[in-house]
Amino acid sequence: AGAVPFLGEHQAGITTPAQDRLHFVAFDVITKDRARLVALLQEWTAAAARMTAGRDAGLIGAVDGVPEAPPDDTGEALGLPPSQLTLTIGFGPTLFRDAEGRDRFGIADRRPAALADLPHFAGDALRPELSGGDICVQACANDPQVAVHAIRNLARIGMGVVSVRWSQLGFGRTSSTSRDQATPRNLFGFKDGTANLKAEDADLLREQLWAQPGDGPDWMTGGSYLVTRKIRMLIETWDRSPLAEQEQIVGRTKGRGAPLGGTGEFDQPDFAARGDDGQPVIAETAHVRLAHPGQNGGAHLLRRGYNFVDGSDGLGRLDAGLFFIAYQRDPRRQFVPIQTRLARHDAMNEYLRHVSSALFACPPGVRDPADWWGRALF
Ligand code: HEM
Repeated sequence: AGAVPFLGEHQAGITTPAQDRLHFVAFDVITKDRARLVALLQEWTAAAARMTAGRDAGLIGAVDGVPEAPPDDTGEALGLPPSQLTLTIGFGPTLFRDAEGRDRFGIADRRPAALADLPHFAGDALRPELSGGDICVQACANDPQVAVHAIRNLARIGMGVVSVRWSQLGFGRTSSTSRDQATPRNLFGFKDGTANLKAEDADLLREQLWAQPGDGPDWMTGGSYLVTRKIRMLIETWDRSPLAEQEQIVGRTKGRGAPLGGTGEFDQPDFAARGDDGQPVIAETAHVRLAHPGQNGGAHLLRRGYNFVDGSDGLGRLDAGLFFIAYQRDPRRQFVPIQTRLARHDAMNEYLRHVSSALFACPPGVRDPADWWGRALF
């Protein structure tokens, strides 16, 4: 039930051992006033530092203010521990130049080249109202009420400056980001996160996760780029497919999560192996073959997604899936080529619909109490 430090070289919520619950929000900035936006980012930073420490969003708190004024915290997290809450901020392409091409805040020349709009991928069924956004905040915690409380209070503080564009709740992490964690399962019932980038992989994190000096504008050094995809999973159809076919689609066994042809979860997949029938043991269209760094110029992702069930779809099916979250040093060399390959060839596509997509530049960590979210950008 402890607290995750808010200050640091990198933002928390990226290599932090993935918590069990998510509330993710994308905001539109509705003011054109740069000073108001900067003031909000400063106020948000202070509130985030307090909430991640398990305190109220405001200095006075939910119940200690004057009776005539609305409280500076909404109250539903009173008495709850910090629950490993992390709040991670990111800036979307439209903050730098909006859909009409306007540079509302005088920062267009600071847009990193790596924050290039994602291309259209084969099969995309994106809903614009669930996609994009000027600013995102990812709240992760081991108590859903704590995550929702944090996002709700940031939205409350932001009234008149930002408005919620879309938001997503997630339960059940679908990745481990640390070797201390057991690998969880996604809604297809498979272990997810086995071959993920992990907090312990120091060299790979430097090479694949954190923006390095010289990569782009200095304000992003030590930051990371975030891609989110809301992926509906057609679980009713999946549940009618035979076990062997499910395993061929993933390229791993459903029980242990071992690569096909191997025995242990962490065995290296042998993509060259052929069975008695002469066919590859791990199919050419298997998800893990197509997503593997060896197929993608050595590109890795730090995946940090969550399961979702957003009620039902009115057609007798659950509206369920994976809210995919991936952090990386440069989406142009990581997410884009991997997803291009998956979109064309992945056997899993028959059971997937990508309905939302977003991209954000997440700056480095808040260094000290005088620092604030985005200071080096503004
Ligand atoms: C691996 C499921 C979407 C990238 C895996 C594994 C599973 C899985 C079960 C094997 C265990 C593991 O190593 O984590 C899914 C499901 C998805 C989905 C159910 C959609 C709902 C994506 C997307 C990407 C992606 C959109 C990136 C564009 C990867 C990568 C690996 C992986 C990089 C590790 C491959 C390796 O190195 O072996 N996924 N995945 N996945 N997935 Fe996905």
